Amino acid sequence: KRHLLSAGDLSRDDAELVLSTAAELRSLADRPIKKLPALRGRTVVNLFFEDSTRTRISFEAAAKRLSADVINFSAKGSSLSKGESLKDTALTLEAMGADAVVVRHGASGAPHRLAHSGWVRSSVVNAGDGTHEHPTQALLDAFTMTRHLGKLDGRRVAIVGDVLHSRVARSNALLLATLGAEVTLVAPPTLFPVGVETWPVETSYDLDAVLPKADVVMMLRVQRERMNGGFFPTPREYSRRYGLDGRRMATLQDHTIVMHPGPMVRGMEISAEVADSDRSVIVEQVTNGVAVRMAVLYLLLGGAQPVGGDE
Ligand code: CP
Repeated sequence: KRHLLSAGDLSRDDAELVLSTAAELRSLADRPIKKLPALRGRTVVNLFFEDSTRTRISFEAAAKRLSADVINFSAKGSSLSKGESLKDTALTLEAMGADAVVVRHGASGAPHRLAHSGWVRSSVVNAGDGTHEHPTQALLDAFTMTRHLGKLDGRRVAIVGDVLHSRVARSNALLLATLGAEVTLVAPPTLFPVGVETWPVETSYDLDAVLPKADVVMMLRVQRERMNGGFFPTPREYSRRYGLDGRRMATLQDHTIVMHPGPMVRGMEISAEVADSDRSVIVEQVTNGVAVRMAVLYLLLGGAQPVGGDE
């Protein structure tokens, strides 16, 4: 049994296997018959304790294209405490015979708890846990970068914004380092996490200095819902110093792509002009997400080789 809990669990070989499998699966999407029989008879449960648009739909589409049975469980609104809710739900899933559980949870570490609790025998895929990790987002981001830039060795990736609350930033930092890219995190001093000096990245407060050198600019949403009412600097000041607008976009190299994991707040971290520009690969990220999640489910449940994670 294997899980995908952290981007940091993936070796370079693991990550490259996911990316190459996703590339094969992505090419199938252009054919008239998109569905493969690979996971026929297997059950994938999407267990979402937190809101999601892209990730939940993407995992559902991925599982269905591999002919798996899919059960969508939205736990939002449960009055149970998080620990109890997770355990009770896990026991129900086990009784239903789930082969894979795709879990999003507001508490960092919830997927690890599920994987190591002994409550379920299924594979556990982390679909975003608190402010901790979102490994399939990092894989789809790396996949999208390689389609535009080729190998990522030595490529410069700027990840900009609310790093403090971003599981996307942490998973990308870990995976991109494994793939040989050079990551610079750009944020105001108040939006860097404690311990960022232990991440495999450079840091900067100066977006204008970083942009001209970047091959990829990944903008992050300011997660005000995780800030308990406090937000410094003000939205207007944030946008002025850390927002990507047309003027800043003009300082990028010709080949540089602009990414955003979504959901976007247009006018805050990214202007509509940038989001809708030719440099933006934001919609392509969503398309690639299905192929990458197909690859992850296939390798965890049906393929001969592991994706990574622990036994
Ligand atoms: N990128 C991402 O995780 O989006 P959702 O929250 O809509 O799933």
